Amino acid sequence: MSDFLGKDILSTKGMGKVDLEKIMETADEFAVFANKEKSSDLLKGKVLASLFYEPSTRTRLSFETAMQRLGGSVITVSGAEGSSLAKGETLRDTARVIENFADVMAVRHSLQGSADDMAEVAGIPVINAGDGHGEHPTQALLDIYTINKERGRVDGLTIAMVGDLKYGRTVHSLSYLLAHFGVKLILVSPDQLKMPAEITDFLAEKKIEFEVTENMDDAVKHAHVCYMTRVQQERFDDPAEYERFKNFYVLTKEIIEKYNSKMTIMHPLPRIGEISLNVDDLDGAAYFRQVKNGVAVRMALLAMVLGKA
Ligand code: CP
Repeated sequence: MSDFLGKDILSTKGMGKVDLEKIMETADEFAVFANKEKSSDLLKGKVLASLFYEPSTRTRLSFETAMQRLGGSVITVSGAEGSSLAKGETLRDTARVIENFADVMAVRHSLQGSADDMAEVAGIPVINAGDGHGEHPTQALLDIYTINKERGRVDGLTIAMVGDLKYGRTVHSLSYLLAHFGVKLILVSPDQLKMPAEITDFLAEKKIEFEVTENMDDAVKHAHVCYMTRVQQERFDDPAEYERFKNFYVLTKEIIEKYNSKMTIMHPLPRIGEISLNVDDLDGAAYFRQVKNGVAVRMALLAMVLGKA
């Protein structure tokens, strides 16, 4: 996938390191537009279909901002109830319709594999903006970009991922990307929400050192980066099970100051209660900078798949 023109972005699993570096370099070039320092009409005349059948604030608006700040335009669906999916239309038929209107589509849907399904029939690039508990590749790309910006490198870091590693799609995609680097991973979750075997098997195959634990405080002591995640309420069949786990981990300013005040704290957001508000003032709290970086990364991806970068 060294040439991105016309390509789908569905997963980070098959993404090579050269491709990853190319995306990071291109995001750096677009940062001036994302940061509103300069304007651009690079994507003038191009249309993004922003198809979000599950709730989103960051990803949808970040894609739409990226497209519009590069001079392109956006058509959007927000929620399945306002679209013909509610009348029984399939995602595959939707893809074949949308390709007539847009040049690229970003899709979020609750079904794992939904973006792959649409990409099979769409004649335009499909970008997976989150497929159920599967993957969230563009989030992982902005996460890697953020880690590199915050720490000056990715190699050699110890990175703790904490929370719902079973249903949290961002940590799935991020794990695949981190496997390109000499990192150590600490996978912190209750046993019932542990990282799927498919991903730990992949890490083992790539000879990435990782540790599985329930103990967040121990992980905080050793981590350069702590990547917190929300317990994904919408994936639980049993509400009581969600209630049991929703406050399992809460990262506070007191924990950070006690164990590791130099740690970088990340979160794909939204946070519910897993990072205390008093963490926000710490220098290491990077989660709102992560959001900002997302625009530059998504600008890069849009420009690349449309052959403009
Ligand atoms: N990080 C993320 O996917 O946020 P949204 O659900 O708001 O898009």
